[in-house]
Amino acid sequence: LGGLPLPGPRAYPIVGNVLQIDTSSTLKSLDKFTDQYGEIYRLVLPWGTTAIVTTAALVHEVSDETRFKKPIIADLEQLRNGVPAGMFTTPTEEPVWGIAHRVLTPAFGPVPIQEMFPEMHELAAQLVMKWARHGPEQSIAVSEDFTRLALDTIALCSMNFRFNSYYHDELHPFITAMANFLTESGNRSLKGNFLSSLFFWSSNKYFADIKTLRDIAQSVLDARRANPNGRKDLLSAMLDGVDRKTGEKLDDGAIIDNLITFLIAGHETTSGMLSFAFVMLLKNPETLKKARQEVDEVIGRGPITAEHMKKLPYITAILRETLRLCPTIPSYGVQALEDTVIGGKWAIAKGQVVLLYLARSHRDKAVYGETADEFIPERMLDENFDRLSKEHPGFWKPFGNGQRGCIGRAFAWQEAMVIMAMLLQNFDFKMSDPSYELKIKETLTTKPEGFEMKAKLRHGLT
Ligand code: HEM
Repeated sequence: LGGLPLPGPRAYPIVGNVLQIDTSSTLKSLDKFTDQYGEIYRLVLPWGTTAIVTTAALVHEVSDETRFKKPIIADLEQLRNGVPAGMFTTPTEEPVWGIAHRVLTPAFGPVPIQEMFPEMHELAAQLVMKWARHGPEQSIAVSEDFTRLALDTIALCSMNFRFNSYYHDELHPFITAMANFLTESGNRSLKGNFLSSLFFWSSNKYFADIKTLRDIAQSVLDARRANPNGRKDLLSAMLDGVDRKTGEKLDDGAIIDNLITFLIAGHETTSGMLSFAFVMLLKNPETLKKARQEVDEVIGRGPITAEHMKKLPYITAILRETLRLCPTIPSYGVQALEDTVIGGKWAIAKGQVVLLYLARSHRDKAVYGETADEFIPERMLDENFDRLSKEHPGFWKPFGNGQRGCIGRAFAWQEAMVIMAMLLQNFDFKMSDPSYELKIKETLTTKPEGFEMKAKLRHGLT
């Protein structure tokens, strides 16, 4: 191969390193190995020997799409049981990914996203009303309410479907089925397909949940066909869009898969980001003060508009810094197209999976210096952000890479900016438990565990 073999913990026959990973906190295990081995190491996992890279420089190098591609392994492979042709989980070589990518990229572009502003605003305002009605002494389960917001927003904006999650304690059957589907896909990725099929009950339930998801998505699709209302959204883009390269359209299966995919990909990631942002704000009162000052100066007490979104640089920096320290997708994989050497010395074999461990590469001291572990939004203000991206191109990758990067980035950003601005405009916040220390709950994504806060109206509702 040329190049040095990777260091790593001793791997055992059959199980490799699986038993050395704490399944309740993969991040803790990876952190421990990172402390021990440094910029790169290898773990023997169910899909093969995997390299873990933990520095911005190596992350940048393996982001070269001429040398590495996205592999469909682990959770992604299992998710295909429910959404075989969804964009997130389909290999780049399969034609249906390319068609969806070309048809949908314009639908997630700046103009359509701005056209979604009124609906995003409406759901954000509903959350503000809900918290206002709670009164100042009620503890708010922050992640749960942000999850309701994110789900309702993606469902409304993508397919004109209202979950009305704020009004029910019981979640909509689609949401329960989706949560079970995600958890079980995670479990299955460790057990493997054969072992999973032996657990009859969970296997039956898994496929029943998938059916629930697909039936509901199918009924949304049928209703739109039966009643085409001229509405422009992601569903209509998929129904009407013709791929300029192949002249093909997406078939019903692919449309359903992508509707479900948007809900899956779009809700926990965005709600996790918002929840972490509030942990950070409440732990850093000076930052919170500055953020509120920006909202007061730029928006005041009047209505929030789409134009305001571009005029809130400090809040933008807060979200960037939040995703740096707490990337809600803390790692993702690529796969070597050929035998290669990275970092000038490390051997990577053709087909080998490389995991980009953002939870550590985002704290690389070579990029962020001695304050790498601290929450300092100022370093993410446009000018500094642009400088960092020139000097250290792999410095910040929370939305993934290249053509397989997040298609919903602008969507998530606008949604998060609206709710941040609206909450800061209307409330004073404090932590329910002032001694709360950040603990991370890991599912397919991450969120703060057990974080609650109280919200007191600053003045009448705006
Ligand atoms: C892909 C992060 C919000 C839809 C990705 C990837 C990351 C990511 C890291 C690449 C994963 C990989 O390489 O395996 C995030 C974060 C979000 C967010 C941090 C919020 C803060 C959204 C939203 C949507 C969405 C709101 C939908 C409206 C997708 C889709 C893909 C994707 C469809 C697959 C794209 C492709 O491979 O063609 N996202 N995402 N994401 N995301 Fe997001």
